[in-house]
Amino acid sequence: MTTRADRDRPSRLAPRALVPAALLVGLAACAPPEQPALHGEGEGGAAWISGTVNERFQQVGDQFAGFSATMFEVAHRYRELHWAIEDDNRAYARYQTEKIRDAIELGIIRRPGRAESARALFLGAPVEELLHAIEEGDDEALRREFGEFTAACNQCHVAEDMAFVMVGAPPERSSVVLPPSNER
Ligand code: HEC
Repeated sequence: MTTRADRDRPSRLAPRALVPAALLVGLAACAPPEQPALHGEGEGGAAWISGTVNERFQQVGDQFAGFSATMFEVAHRYRELHWAIEDDNRAYARYQTEKIRDAIELGIIRRPGRAESARALFLGAPVEELLHAIEEGDDEALRREFGEFTAACNQCHVAEDMAFVMVGAPPERSSVVLPPSNER
């Protein structure tokens, strides 16, 4: 026989009973779509990424390489930065300085052993003061800060046992980015 209490109970329990049902519906909605098979081993494609999930992450991580990949990028950007300053293309100089800073920030995530030198010798004043000179400095201030910035690259190389990598302004123009007056 249904008592008043029994009739009351479902209405009190209903919200709780609905929770697992809602979760199931939610999970079904979140289920990943069927994954396409990897293909193309030996002919492009990603089939070389194989094994357990951890093994696959390891393989991708290895392809990113370490700090040398960062420096490969930084060297390109440093060359561009030099010509941006020569051309007084301040927007491009700011862009490259920020990209160099960002590349090194990402590099020390991959290689934390380089972080202390990067922060102590480069990511602070040398970057900040170059950015400041790009925004507000005259030609002389800009060239001076670029010199300080270059010195900071080399100080880090010394600190990291890479003293044989002594960088400086490239003697010949190599940038494909034209001086502003040649743009059109
Ligand atoms: C963390 C300190 C640090 C800073 C700051 C730094 N470097 Fe380096 N650089 C290194 C290390 C370490 C290597 C060697 C990387 C390796 O092989 O793992 C290197 C290597 C290089 C190389 C050789 C790359 C190659 O393999 O072809 C160049 C060129 C270079 N750096 C340029 C620069 C320039 C330009 C700057 C400044 C804009 C700079 N670096 C700032 C630490 C630094």
